[in-house]
This record gives sequence, C-alpha cells and structure tokens, in this order.
Amino acid sequence: MRPAVPLDRASGRGSRRARFAVLSLMVALLTAGAEVAVLTTAEPARAATIGDVVPAPVSAQPASGTVYTLPAEAGIFTEAGSAQAADVGSYLAGILRPSTGYPLPVSAAGTGAPAAGISLLLTGADATVGQQGYQLDVTSASVVIRARTATGLFNGVQTLRQLLPAEVESTTVRPGPWTVPGGRIVDYPRFAYRGTMLDVARHFHPVATVKRYIDRIALYKINYLHLHLSDDQGWRIVVDAWPRLATYGGSTQVGGGAGGYYTKAQYQDIVAYAAQRQITIVPEIDMPGHTNAALASYAELNCNGVAPALYTGTDVGFSSLCTSKETTYAFVQNVLGELAAMTPGPYLHIGGDEASATSASQYATFMNRVQPLVAATGKTVMGWHQIGASAVQHSPGRVTQYWGLTTSDSLVSGAVSKGAKVVMSPADKAYLDMKYTSSTTPGQNWAGYIEVQTAYEWNPGTYLSGVPESAVLGVEAPLWTETVVTEDHIEKMAFPRLPAIAELGWSPWSTHNWAAFRQRLGAQGPRWTVMGIDFYRSPQVPWATGDQGTVRYEAENAVISRGVAESNHAGFSGTGFVNYDNAAGSYVQWTVNAAAAGPVTLRLRYANGTSTGRPMDISVNGTTAAAGVAFNGTGAWTTWQTRTLTVNLNAGTNTIRATATTSGGGPNVDYIEIQR
Ligand code: ACM
Repeated sequence: MRPAVPLDRASGRGSRRARFAVLSLMVALLTAGAEVAVLTTAEPARAATIGDVVPAPVSAQPASGTVYTLPAEAGIFTEAGSAQAADVGSYLAGILRPSTGYPLPVSAAGTGAPAAGISLLLTGADATVGQQGYQLDVTSASVVIRARTATGLFNGVQTLRQLLPAEVESTTVRPGPWTVPGGRIVDYPRFAYRGTMLDVARHFHPVATVKRYIDRIALYKINYLHLHLSDDQGWRIVVDAWPRLATYGGSTQVGGGAGGYYTKAQYQDIVAYAAQRQITIVPEIDMPGHTNAALASYAELNCNGVAPALYTGTDVGFSSLCTSKETTYAFVQNVLGELAAMTPGPYLHIGGDEASATSASQYATFMNRVQPLVAATGKTVMGWHQIGASAVQHSPGRVTQYWGLTTSDSLVSGAVSKGAKVVMSPADKAYLDMKYTSSTTPGQNWAGYIEVQTAYEWNPGTYLSGVPESAVLGVEAPLWTETVVTEDHIEKMAFPRLPAIAELGWSPWSTHNWAAFRQRLGAQGPRWTVMGIDFYRSPQVPWATGDQGTVRYEAENAVISRGVAESNHAGFSGTGFVNYDNAAGSYVQWTVNAAAAGPVTLRLRYANGTSTGRPMDISVNGTTAAAGVAFNGTGAWTTWQTRTLTVNLNAGTNTIRATATTSGGGPNVDYIEIQR
C-alpha cells in the first residue's frame, strides 16, 4: 500500500476546501435568493430573431418581416475550387438532411449572384471578419454565408444552425417548416482561443464520448479541445517507446474501475474528427507531478528505482518524475516526440501544476530541460500557470493557463512581462467540475459553487492585474473528472456553463448582459433536448422547454412575413403588435414549446378596424389546423378581442402560423396564448 498523503502535500484542491467553505455558503445563500425572483418572472424564451444566438454576434441587423423557409428542393452551394468549403457544405448537409428529409445536394457555386438555397462563399465578406469570422445574409430567397476561410464558414454554419428550429438537430424526419429569420450578421471572435478541457485520466472516457463532446462544443464556436491525457490515476495514450504507460498505467482509474487508453489510431481519429469541426486538439502530459501512473509503469522513472502501486484515489501533489535522472529526460523526449508527430495543432501542454513533491529548484531544473524538448518537436509550450515561476525560463510563444482564485497572480504577470500569453481558466468561474449549488451532483466545491451567472459574470480581458487584454489568448473551461464518471455527467456539467464561457471568449464585451444572455441561453434548451443532452436546468435561466400552464407569446417577437411590428396603438400587450400588409399570404409564426403532445387551447388577441372579416388560416407544424378562421371587425384598430380554438401540439418545439388569406391582409395581432 502506498503511504497516506500528508495533509500539507494534498495542496491545491484538497487544502483549499476548508478555506472556501464559508465562501461557498455565501454563494449558496445568494443563489437561493436569486432563484425566488427568477421563478416569479420566468417567461418563455422568444422565437429567434437573427441576433438570438449564443455566443452573441458582433452585429446583427434583423430584417423585420423577412423570413427564409428552406424548400425541399434547396441546394447547398460552396465556393468553386475550394475542397475545404465543400467539406463545410457536406458537414451542413449532414446536419440538415436527417431532420428535414430533403436531399440538399452540395455542389460548386456558380459565378453570378448567389443562387436560391444556401451558399457558402469565400469572397465578399465584410472586411472586419478576419480569419475566424463570417457574414450571414438571410433574405426570403436565400441564405448566404461569406468568410475568408473555411473556419469562418464553419462558424457561420453554427449560427445558421441555431437560427433554424431546434428540431433541425433531430436524427429523424420532422415536419418543419425550416425557417430562418431574415437580416444580416457580421461576426468575428474577441479571442483566438476558446477552449474546453476534458480530463480523460481520472475517469477514462471512450472515443465515442469525446466525439459527441466535440460535436456539441462546435455549436458554440469552441475551437480548442484540451485533453488531459495523464495523471496519477491513469495514462491514456499509447507511447511506442514506453508501452507499459498505456497497458499498465492506463489499466485503472479513480475508484478502481477498468480505465482505458487511446491507441495511436484512435487518438488520430479524434484529432481528425475535431479538425473537421475546426477544433484543434491540445494534448496534455502533466509533469513533473501528477505522474503516479507513469511511475507505477516504469521503476526507472523513480529516484529510488522502486515503482509505486497504481493509484485510484483523488489526492494531489504526492508524485514526481525524478528530475535528477537522465532517463527522465529521455522518457519525456520520447513521449513528447511521439505525441507531437500525431498532433497537427501548435501546442503541447506539459501541465506543471501541483508539483508539491518537487522542490522549487528541482521544478525549475525540470522545466528548463523540458521546454526546449517541446520546442524541438516544433510545438509551442502550454502549461498551467505554475510554469511562470521566475526560475523557469521563458520559451518563445509559450502559453500559461491561469487556474487560480485571485485576480492578481505574480506567476502570471511575471510570465506575461517576459512575453507569455495567457489562457484564462479561473477555477471559481470557469471550472466545469465545480458543483452549481450545494445540492447538485456530481462535482466538487473547493473553488466554490458556480451557477450559470457566476460562470458568465467576469471579463477575461481585465480579470488579472498586470495582464492586459492583448496578452490574453483566450478562455478555457476545464472539466476535471474525479467525480465525473458518465457521459450524462459530462453533459450536465458542461451545459449550460460551457456556452457561457464560449460567449466570454467570442462576443465583444459591449454585448455582455446577463439579462439578455439568460434569454438567449434559455432558447437553447429545446435544441439540447432534441440533441439528447442531459443539461442542468438552472433556475437562473428561463428555459424554453416544456412550458406549463398558460404561456403568452407576443407577436412582435415572432417571425413576421410581410408585415411590420408596430407600437403606436393603445392597449396592446408587451412592446407591440403586428400589422399585416394588405395582401394574402402575410403571416406571423410563433415557436411554442410543449411539455407533452396533445390538444391545447390557442387564444389569439387581435384588433380589426374594418367592418369586414379578416380571415386567417392557423397552421401547426406546417399542417392547417383551422382554415379561414373569422377575425371580424372589433370597431377600431385599437380595440382588442380574443378568439380561441383548439389545436394539437407535438411534444417539444412546435411552429404555429397565422396566415392572412384575403387581399386586405390580416387583423392586427397582439399575441397568442397557449392554455393547458
Ligand atoms: C489544476 O486544477 N490543478 C490545474
């Protein structure tokens, strides 16, 4: 048996627990107070207008009354001669085909004006979009995404996905209609690096789980996935020169389960899958601490030449590679060399945190030998912010990852003064393994509880003193897995906090607004339900899924075709109503979420200042539910009345449309209410 870890060795996460208990209690009390207020004001999320996406775009100009409806015969047209643009087109088709049932052929765009359908073009984007941004134009005839790179097109596609109804994520054919609100977005990221980390060492997570995580994080424009591939409890990647690392060092995990590891082919499969989704893998081998699995696999890596037992507990800070042995550096060189050879991304993460079993001078000796080994592979050093120790030399371009609990840190500002860049992962804001509240599971609480608002309310560009925004490469939300065992756990910890961190990384600070963010976030709920994501239903967020009781949906927030939202008549609800134009075919279309399938009462409030009827067809999910419903004169355009009818809804998201059928157009429409 390995000896018990002395308390002072269980640094970091262990020892901080007591210090943060009081803070955690305060957070819990504040959170409880907020919940009451939030619940009494809960409202359904609005149907999407073109800016209603996460992360918030730089600029969004809705075209009121304009909506694009994807027709069954639509094509996807990609920049002629660009295989990368064609790949993005195929990716988009792969998302749209299962739910729409449409063939959506992908072909080269012509040279003239963009065709009807969806175009992905590498010309003509606004000059501000840069290497990752895009411009999206939605008219009633077409959807056009323009960018300078395939990355930009891909980011535009993620925005388009979110503007389509949630059912577009379904793996089976759904009725549609497949509408996109009209207007223009010009969008690009605030920070180049927007990441998340998955710890596959504490609990091993198989390739299929990692791929699904990649699919989900792509939706929020996350572009780096950091894989924590080694720790005391497991070594998860094959190294040919040191085969027992995987076969023995990978043979268990926290709690003593079977563990596992990735073969080189599997790792390369993950890398390629991520690359198709514009995500770069950052592999981490944590050194010189957090190395018990390696030390157990090879006795010669230990200073005393004795291999310890495998470890399945959760203490930290007790293990170290032997910094005075040449074998150690041959080992590190082999490991980094093999990893670099199958990693196209620029970074090798060498850990460097919680090396409490290594003296400060041993630590500096080790890092000053290892950083040049990284550079020799052609890669750039990334490490936890302890690599900023003053005795550790600067290495060109290196990136320190801040995971502390304070807003000032001399290791970080010192490293920055020598030219380092910083990825911001403050543990009390960005750690996805912290519990949301004292009563949520799984998770830890040594850095406090992190409800959604806490994850959202900080500014990565100004967070650390001595670290100007120009030194911040970006943000990362790490998910440690001491308590995170299943894929459901991953989903519950990452959603909805990861989209909050993604918005901090992408959106301009000028858009930062919790009240607006929680609405946009709540509108993601039905999408996650369709995608099968078991997310945490934070009471801070007005989830747009499974509405209960009577819920009102304002017309001015709905999709409007050939009509205008007006606010100059008395007596309406919300901020306005919709005035149809004088033509048949104008409509207002609401997105309504139902907890269960079945009949509901639909109550439509309208005003008709004529003495003649203004009939409308009411359709649900593309099928006429009631044809030519009479909306007779109410005496004035400001005199509101309601009409009720019964309609059948599906479970989940439904599309309800009220279409004027005569040349005079429809009545003024204020809202619909769904009564259960
Ligand atoms: C860390 O949480 N030890 C980086």
